[in-house]
Formats: sequence, C-alpha cells, structure tokens
Amino acid sequence: MFSEKKAVLITGGTSGIGRATALLMVSLGYDVAVTGRRADRLEELAAECENLPGKLLTFEADVQDRDAMRRVAAETLAQFNRLDVLVANAGVGQRGMLVDADWEDLETVLRTNIDGVLHSIRACVPAMKASGGGHIITISSVLGPVPAPGAAVYSASKAAVDSLARALRVELAPDNIHVTNILVGQTHTEFASKRLGRAGKVASKFPTMTAEKVAGQIVRALEGKKRTIILRWIDRLFVLAGNFMPRIMDRVLARIYLQR
Ligand SMILES: NC(=O)c1ccc[n+]([C@@H]2O[C@H](COP(=O)([O-])OP(=O)(O)OC[C@H]3O[C@@H](n4cnc5c(N)ncnc54)[C@H](OP(=O)(O)O)[C@@H]3O)[C@@H](O)[C@H]2O)c1
Repeated sequence: MFSEKKAVLITGGTSGIGRATALLMVSLGYDVAVTGRRADRLEELAAECENLPGKLLTFEADVQDRDAMRRVAAETLAQFNRLDVLVANAGVGQRGMLVDADWEDLETVLRTNIDGVLHSIRACVPAMKASGGGHIITISSVLGPVPAPGAAVYSASKAAVDSLARALRVELAPDNIHVTNILVGQTHTEFASKRLGRAGKVASKFPTMTAEKVAGQIVRALEGKKRTIILRWIDRLFVLAGNFMPRIMDRVLARIYLQR
C-alpha cells in the first residue's frame, strides 16, 4: 500500500501521545505533519526533529476548524506529494457531573473529540485517495466501550469515535484505506492536568503507560490491518469486565471517578 517514504499527518502533536508519535516517526524516516494550537510547542518539536531522517511540517491549527483542517491536509499533500497515514489523536478530557458541568466544557469535548476527528478524516481522505490508499488511526479510549461516571461526555465522545471508525472502515475499504481504532488506557501525559471541569492528575489507582509506549504501538499498527487495538492486558481485562460484569464495573468506576 505504501511507498518507501510514508507521509503522515498527526493531529495534536504538541504534547503527549501525538508528540511522542511524531518524534518516533520522524526518527524512523517518515515525513510527518503535525497540528496543534500551541505555536511554541510546535517550534520546540521542529527544533528537536531538525537532524532526524524524516521531515517535519508544523501547522498551528484547531481541529474544530473544518477549513483549517482542509488547508492542513492540502498543504501536507502539496509538500510531501502524498498522504499515507492520518493519526486522529487530538483530544481533550473533562471531569464532573453531567448535569452540573459547564455546557461550554462539554461542548468543547464534543467539538474537539468528535467534530475534530470528523474534520481531520474528511480533510485527509481525498489526499489519501490521490496517493493510492492509506491508513487512518483513530485514538479512542477504553472509556469508549466502558463509560465512566464523572466523565460521561468524554466517554460518549470516544464511543462516537469507535462507532465512526467501524462504519468508516467498510466505507473506505474500496479506496484501499484501512481504519484502525486504538483504545488507549491510562497514559502519563498532560491530559489529566489539562482536562476541563474538575482538573486533576492521572488516577493513581490504575497503572499508567508512557506516551512513548503508545507511540511505538501506533507505528506497529501501520504494519498490519487490525480493526481495533487495546494495548495492555489490564485494559483488555477492563473492557471485558465492563461488557460482561457491568454492575460490578459501574461500582468500581464510581469509586475511581466520582470523587465529589
Ligand atoms: N492520557 C490518557 O490517559 C489517555 C487515555 C485514553 C485516551 N487518550 C486519548 O489520547 C489522545 C491524546 O491525548 P494525550 O494523553 O496525549 O493528551 P495531551 O498530552 O493533553 O495531548 C493532547 C493533544 O491534543 C491537542 N489538542 C487538544 N485540543 C485541540 C484542538 N482543539 N485542536 C488541535 N489540537 C488539539 C493538544 O494540542 P494543543 O493544546 O497545542 O492544541 C495536544 O497536542 C486524546 O485523544 C485522548 O483522548 C488519552
């Protein structure tokens, strides 16, 4: 499916999983375009990539902005002459009771995590078709299939990503574009400190993984055509228990997530 030099677009490359994936891919020789809203972080990443084998393009862009994402995809295609991979990674969390939360926070979660993924995919697919095919990696969460109280809208936004990825995989198969949905478990990034509503730290009750581990798995996912990937056995157990023991898991999740 791919030429020797893969061209990749990663949304949310200014921190955490997106940044680690961009660094890994550029060091492996991929040509990578990253987006994010923080210009200083994009500059820092560009400086770190300067002497690595792949090229890095940076775009200060908000995934909620449909036209901006179209411009990013078009410019990436123009600069790299192809677009093989999209990692739809940009996302934001929120904590708090559904009915008490600020609507603006909930709206930001929905607009970023659902609309942002849609804008990214819809902008990139024409460029992938022009390149003869491609691979879309959607970054979801174990909270998609197993929603957490206190993070209901975030969980719902990731369930929407799961649903979109599944339908899209079938829609895009004739165009030689594969879709892999990765259900990420708890990862040590800026995510918890930046989340809307009740800010916080990474929940200490669950073991965390590093952004670099997730990045390695994203790169590995490009070698195959898996539909869904859950990275660790503890996360697979979490999803399994959520499906088969929902009452017990709801109680467990309430203890972890509902700290009033
Ligand atoms: N960390 C975890 O435990 C965990 C678990 C499950 C799933 N995930 C998912 O993994 C993905 C990456 O999260 P992370 O852990 O790496 O968190 P992070 O360190 O906070 O990174 C989030 C990235 O998304 C970008 N972003 C947020 N809103 C954006 C917007 N409107 N437009 C463009 N970019 C935006 C941020 O860039 P700017 O702020 O510069 O725009 C940043 O680069 C998210 O989709 C998240 O839901 C994370």
